[in-house]
Amino acid sequence: MKHSILITGAGSGLGRGLGHCLAEQGHSIIATDVDSARASETAASIQSKGGTAQSFGLDVTSEASVAETIVKLGRVDVLINNAGLQHVASLEEFSTEKWDAIMDIIVKGSFLLSRSALPKMRSQGFGRIIHIGSIHSLVASPYKSAYTAAKHALVGLSKVLALETADCDITSNLICPAYIRTPLVDSQIADQARTRGISQEEVIEQVMLAPMPKKSFVTCEEVAAAVSYLMSPLAKNVTGQSITIDGGWTAQ
Ligand SMILES: NC(=O)c1ccc[n+]([C@@H]2O[C@H](COP(=O)([O-])OP(=O)(O)OC[C@H]3O[C@@H](n4cnc5c(N)ncnc54)[C@H](O)[C@@H]3O)[C@@H](O)[C@H]2O)c1
Repeated sequence: MKHSILITGAGSGLGRGLGHCLAEQGHSIIATDVDSARASETAASIQSKGGTAQSFGLDVTSEASVAETIVKLGRVDVLINNAGLQHVASLEEFSTEKWDAIMDIIVKGSFLLSRSALPKMRSQGFGRIIHIGSIHSLVASPYKSAYTAAKHALVGLSKVLALETADCDITSNLICPAYIRTPLVDSQIADQARTRGISQEEVIEQVMLAPMPKKSFVTCEEVAAAVSYLMSPLAKNVTGQSITIDGGWTAQ
């Protein structure tokens, strides 16, 4: 079955990568991002490869922006809450502004999008809500207090959604990847190299991939494969779960 898939934060990294992978499978992509130019670049690039895509500027933290966008759309079969932000600092040095921004984008944004998409999904009799969690939905790392708190909060939000949609063919799940090579991670590599006084290659080996027995970055294709499974009719009883793609990180 071909689906209409709304992706937040689709102007970069994983959101853009998922747009491409899922369009290649014949699905129709609604690429949204707070940076509307980058969302439209994603849609144009999907179209140039023969895929179907439209784009919208959408700030997930704004109730008005979310409501205005949802009202313009036809079917939304699948919602991928992907927009995210990272900030690395010790708790004592963590600014309230950064804390609020991360919590707003990841937690409030996923709440607002899910709340707006649900009536459409209920009237369609089908829906899949997929939250992009993280390994930090399950474990912590120092200097990532807001991100870890926000990604853990998504687990709770997703479970409540799963229970509240149990009466129909709607599910809510998390995908929890370890590191994916996106602009969000590239900037962390550069920051950590600077603060630790080591090379970027050393940051990759000694910091990023150190907790991953498999020692390789997760790819957008691997996350898209998990999305494909969760969208499928055979996953109708998989709800309130976290699918972890972590190279063995949490097996230790
Ligand atoms: N890269 C990784 O290693 C990794 C690992 C696990 C989970 N994730 C998660 O994947 C998701 C995507 O991360 P990425 O690595 O592609 O990051 P990225 O920085 O490349 O992309 C994030 C996108 O979110 C958009 N965005 C930011 N604020 C927004 C807002 N208010 N409204 C709408 N869009 C907004 C940005 O404009 C950007 O296009 C995030 O939720 C992140 O936590 C990433």
